[in-house]
Amino acid sequence: MVRTPRFIQLQPVDDARQMPALWSGLQAPVARVSPKYFYDALGSRLFEAITELDEYYPTRTEAAIFDAHSADMAARLRAHVGAAHDLIDLGAGSCAKAAKLFPLFAPRRYVAVDISVDFLKHSLECLQRAHPDMDMLGVGLDFSAALALPAALYEGPALVFYPGSSIGNFAPDEALRLLREAHTAARGGALLIGVDLVKDKAVLDAAYDDALGVTAAFNLNVLRHLNRIAGTDFRLADWRHVAFFDPERSRIEMHLEARQSLTVQWPGGERRFAAGERILTEHSWKWTRARFDALLREAGFGDVACWTDARDGFAVFLACA
Ligand code: AVJ
Repeated sequence: MVRTPRFIQLQPVDDARQMPALWSGLQAPVARVSPKYFYDALGSRLFEAITELDEYYPTRTEAAIFDAHSADMAARLRAHVGAAHDLIDLGAGSCAKAAKLFPLFAPRRYVAVDISVDFLKHSLECLQRAHPDMDMLGVGLDFSAALALPAALYEGPALVFYPGSSIGNFAPDEALRLLREAHTAARGGALLIGVDLVKDKAVLDAAYDDALGVTAAFNLNVLRHLNRIAGTDFRLADWRHVAFFDPERSRIEMHLEARQSLTVQWPGGERRFAAGERILTEHSWKWTRARFDALLREAGFGDVACWTDARDGFAVFLACA
């Protein structure tokens, strides 16, 4: 029998329902747009381009940590759960990072989760051809609000896989909430998570404000996306990319800053911006190894292992549920 991946969309992907929240973000005293709006088709390509930049070290550093240590990680996981586990991939997208784990981890079922199943169709179908015996499931779910997977979707124990330091988009209290939900979802399995670490401000600043201007384009692209889905009339030339590390709060802030005073209009509303006024588009929180270890334990995990690169720039944690 030839298996085919199954797909299930748990929430309707309905841009129209999200517009009120989007507009109220634009009208807030400090205007803000959720970082999820970076990732339209062009934005996803621009992010891919970011990962190729000399300045943007996280993607390649994490990949090197997996190359060096995934056998070790797999052995630890096996010691904790035995042979059989389901792999739950949060924000799977191209599924490429999880696919690299298959030979060593050998999950019996692969559950790829992303906002829309449409992002998963092509990648899962390709992956199924390479792994004809693995049970594969694509799940459409915006887990940033709540990671709630129906009990019947998988058996567990599960390895919840959350690479790329995407956890950095969550403020510490929200990160704790998501980790608690991941602990529940693991059903006695474990969490394998990539986390970007606090480091020299100059290195962090450059990673989010590269010389080629790719991150600037990635940030400005959110305005194109909003013009298309939210009916706003942003003019990209009126805005400038601003990104920096705030060591006090231990986070990158990305903003779009108005180059002059202007008004943005959309169906049923508008917002005036003074010259220099900003829209917050992203926080990317940076952790120390000790603080993230403590966060994992607070979320209910025990037996935490951690691997880093030689410069302690990035960490991969395996935490037992
Ligand atoms: C995808 C959230 C991990 O915070 O580094 C890259 C996104 N923003 N450059 C990050 C991002 C600007 C990225 N994450």
